[in-house]
Amino acid sequence: MVFAEAEHAPDDRLAMEIGTTYHRDLFCRNFIETHRPFEPESLPWPRLEGALLERLRAFPLWSYARTIERRAGQMVCAFAETVTDPVIREAVALQGYEETRHARLMQHVLDRYGIDAPDLATPPAPATREDFIVFGYGECTDSFLGFGAFALARKKALFPEPIMSIFEQILYEEARHITFFVNWFRYEEKRAGRDRFGERHVAALRGCFAAVKGALSGERGGVAPEFPADAAAEFSAFIDGITPIDFLEAALAENRRFLARLDPRLPKPGVVPTIALLALLGLRALPPRTQLTELTSPRALRHARDDRTEHQPLLAR
Ligand SMILES: [Fe+2]
Ligand SMILES: [Fe+2]
Repeated sequence: MVFAEAEHAPDDRLAMEIGTTYHRDLFCRNFIETHRPFEPESLPWPRLEGALLERLRAFPLWSYARTIERRAGQMVCAFAETVTDPVIREAVALQGYEETRHARLMQHVLDRYGIDAPDLATPPAPATREDFIVFGYGECTDSFLGFGAFALARKKALFPEPIMSIFEQILYEEARHITFFVNWFRYEEKRAGRDRFGERHVAALRGCFAAVKGALSGERGGVAPEFPADAAAEFSAFIDGITPIDFLEAALAENRRFLARLDPRLPKPGVVPTIALLALLGLRALPPRTQLTELTSPRALRHARDDRTEHQPLLAR
């Protein structure tokens, strides 16, 4: 693809304006140039046995994850065919290819490590502009949660480093997808005269809520996530000893680390990290010993509330 002549000099960083041809070429070129060609089968997968293999097999969402990646690939590829701008179309098609490759990578993990994950039937994915927007905001929320889980899994050394390095590449691709998405969205909105601060933040919040609602109801991926009954023990082993503050701090730090690898001139996803930061500031008012497992029990919540009142300075009561 030949990019159009820039409306600003390429080295004029401060002059980059959202909605210009220069902006479009920058976010599309950055996305295309950071694509890494590889085939899932040729990656350096380690040999796993014993407890590590059991832990990988026990991950409860293999079926769900493969299904939503496959469906994402179908939807993004179909949406790319409707995009009239050839520069944007090439980038969206590449994202569709990467999503399809994520599904193939998941399938390879299942085959290689003997993981039993039934195929989930899903209806065909609709691929309108509105679907791409809800999908994009869904990726913003999913990626942020993924960054936090990934950072904590690495910290706890739950899986060997070669596995973590492969999944680091997948999360980097998701960081590229969400950065491409927010730039595409702002580019389009600006060109339609709807890029004022309030308008775009309301649109982003609406998109995030629609994405979360769609994920929980199964509308977004065509299937709702299901936790098998025996997944609870494995899940609590993962979150054992981790406080919500730990999780949010890890997710925010990892989010910064991944997004810092992309062109500094491009706007980055900000709504989900801002909500997380506000939640973090709120949670810091809770007792420091509160953990994710404790927080889910009503008794612990009642305890935390009483505790907080007891330890608050007199003037704050
Ligand atoms: Fe993906
Ligand atoms: Fe993605």
